[in-house]
Amino acid sequence: MPDLYCVFGNPIAHSKSPAIHAAFAASTGEALCYEARLAPVDGFRQAVDEFIARGGRGANVTVPFKEEAFRLCNALTPRATRAGAVNTLSFVDGRILGDNTDGAGLVADITGNLKFSLAGKRILLLGAGGAARGVIEPLLAGRPATLMIANRTADKACALAEAFSDIAAPQGDLLRGALSAGNFTDLAGQQFDLTINATSASLAGETLPLPPGIFAPGSLAYDMMYGKGETPFLKQAREQGASLCADGLGMLVGQAAEAFAVWRGRHPASAPVLASLRSALKG
Ligand code: ATR
Repeated sequence: MPDLYCVFGNPIAHSKSPAIHAAFAASTGEALCYEARLAPVDGFRQAVDEFIARGGRGANVTVPFKEEAFRLCNALTPRATRAGAVNTLSFVDGRILGDNTDGAGLVADITGNLKFSLAGKRILLLGAGGAARGVIEPLLAGRPATLMIANRTADKACALAEAFSDIAAPQGDLLRGALSAGNFTDLAGQQFDLTINATSASLAGETLPLPPGIFAPGSLAYDMMYGKGETPFLKQAREQGASLCADGLGMLVGQAAEAFAVWRGRHPASAPVLASLRSALKG
């Protein structure tokens, strides 16, 4: 019997994770079976217990269960603790271990697939919810010059900046004041080399009130969302002068590759899987 894994979510029917992990398993020769499992909104814990009872070795967790997963773990990695959310569970000797690979997946896509270095860059992170929180530490680890968190509700951005203010990059502290926060109006007159959309504004069909001129020449706009065509944020960024645009499909594959490495101890190649998902999406 191959080792059993799954992704829990609600909804989950359109999840790409089973196909991604099947491709990773094929390319690495790891014998595993990975399925999508719909958990009732009020029945996540029970769904996890049932899966463990069936012999499940690990699971990914997606919307809306990442915070609940964080709470039910017996142990957490430092990055999951920082993120306040868990997207990767490992079931070991009756214990539930929680990790969060979202931020690593984002950074792997930006620095690996897109070949855009974070070092010395001025980064703007839009949004202050769970998606934003999960990527702050890995972004800071890339040693940017500055990181500003901007959110519709400024207080939430300030609270996030405060929560991460003690973080030092691996080789030397961030400059004092390098981590800042505000609302969208506060962006006026500033420029950024990398702007990441971690808001859910486009789900509501809304665009962000970004002041003109914030995209520096040569800058990358990155949307954690992805879709068949250009996302609303990337359309806006392109029209406002962003030179490079990328959606979150690479982050999806990147977080899956990191989860695979957590479970199996080896990193699968993500570029071929991303390429085939991209062509299927365009199809
Ligand atoms: P997630 O887990 O996806 O981050 P969340 O925690 O609900 O979801 O956070 C959603 C983020 O998108 C928040 O930063 C939210 O801004 P507020 O904190 O002001 O609510 C942001 N967001 C959602 N809709 C938005 C909109 N129409 N315009 C701007 N920001 C929006």
